[in-house]
Amino acid sequence: MFGFGTMIEKLKKDPKSIVFTEGSDPRILEAASRLLASSFLKPVLLGNPDEIEKSAENAGYNIRGAEIIDPENYDRFDEMVDLFCEIRKSKGMTPEEARKILSAGNYFGTMLVKMGVADCLLGGATYSTADTVRPALQIIKTKPGNSIVSSCFILVRPSATGENEVLAMADCAINLYPTEDELVEICGETVECARVFGVDPKVAFLSYSTLGSGKGDAVTKMQNATKKAKEKYPDLPIEGELQFDAAVSPRVARTKCPGSSAAAGHANTFIFPDINAGNIGYKIAQRMGNFEAYGPILLGLNAQINDLSRGCNALEVYSMSIITAALA
Ligand SMILES: CC(C)(COP(=O)(O)OP(=O)(O)OC[C@H]1O[C@@H](n2cnc3c(N)ncnc32)[C@H](O)[C@@H]1OP(=O)(O)O)[C@@H](O)C(=O)NCCC(=O)NCCS
Repeated sequence: MFGFGTMIEKLKKDPKSIVFTEGSDPRILEAASRLLASSFLKPVLLGNPDEIEKSAENAGYNIRGAEIIDPENYDRFDEMVDLFCEIRKSKGMTPEEARKILSAGNYFGTMLVKMGVADCLLGGATYSTADTVRPALQIIKTKPGNSIVSSCFILVRPSATGENEVLAMADCAINLYPTEDELVEICGETVECARVFGVDPKVAFLSYSTLGSGKGDAVTKMQNATKKAKEKYPDLPIEGELQFDAAVSPRVARTKCPGSSAAAGHANTFIFPDINAGNIGYKIAQRMGNFEAYGPILLGLNAQINDLSRGCNALEVYSMSIITAALA
C-alpha cells in the first residue's frame, strides 16, 4: 500500500539530487529545508545565491547544505551551450540563441539533468505545465521503445479499513487527443507507475458508453484501444469501453456488463479518452472525492522531470520531490 516511507527508505539507500528551477520561491525553500533536515535527497536550487539566501533567511528556512547554481554565473555554461546546440542541431540552433534560451531556469535546469549534474527535476511552481514539459521533451526526450511522453496522477485517500485507497488516472496533463496506440502506451506506463505506489492495477478504458451501449468515434477509439491493450497485456485485468459507474461499482458492472473481466466494477487504474476528460476527472476526484492528487507524474522520459501546479504549497513540493526522486 502507498506510503512515503517506502520511497524514503529507497532513497536513503540511494540518495538522489533534485533540481528546483524556482530556487528562491518560499514554497521551494520550505520544502528544501525539510529535505535537508533528512539525508535522502539533495536539493539543487537555481537562482542568484544572494537572492536565495536572503529569501530563505527572511522566511526563516535553514537551507544550509543545499547546492545553489546561478544560471548567470555557471562555470560549465559554455559546455552546456555546446551540448544544447548539438541536441537541437536539426532545428538550426545557434550558440547565440542557445545562450538566450538557457538563461531561463526551466531549460537550464533540464540541461543540468541531461549533463548528469543532477538526477531529476521538479519545476513549475511559477511556470505553466507546457513550459516545464517542453524542455523535457526537447532535451531529455522519449525513452527507447516509447513513442510519446505522457503522464498520470496518483490519487490517495484514507479508506474505512485504515489503509489508503490508491488510484491512477491518465493522461490528464500532456497528450490532448491520444490515438488508440498512444492510449495503449499510456496504459502500459500508467500500470508500471501505479505498481510503484502499491496498486495492483485493474484497468478501465473510460467512455460515455459501456460495451457498445453508445455510439460515436470516441467510443470506437476506446473499444479499439481496449482490444489492443488486452492483446499487448494479456495477463492484466483490462476492460473497456466502460462508463465510470460500470468501472467502479460491482453492482452497476453486473447490470451493464455481466461476465466481463475482473476490472469491471473494481477498476483502480483509469485511462481517459482525452485530456479534457482526464483533467476534469482527476480534479473532481481531488476536490469532491477528498483524494490527495500527486502529479502530473511524467511517464516515458529518459529522466524523471515533474511539474508542480502553480497553486502548490510547500507540502506538495516536498511530496512531489520524494516521488520524483524515487522514480528517478
Ligand atoms: C506537452 C506540450 C506542452 C507540447 O506542446 P508544444 O511545446 O506546443 O509541442 P511542440 O509540438 O512544439 O513540440 C515540442 C517538442 O516536443 C515533442 N513532443 C510534443 N508532444 C510530445 C509528446 N507527447 N511526447 C513526446 N514528445 C512530444 C515534439 O515532437 C517536439 O520535439 P522537437 O522540438 O524535438 O521537434 C503540449 O502537448 C501541451 O500543451 N499539453 C497540455 C499541457 C497542459 O496544459 N496540461 C494541463 C494542465 S496540467
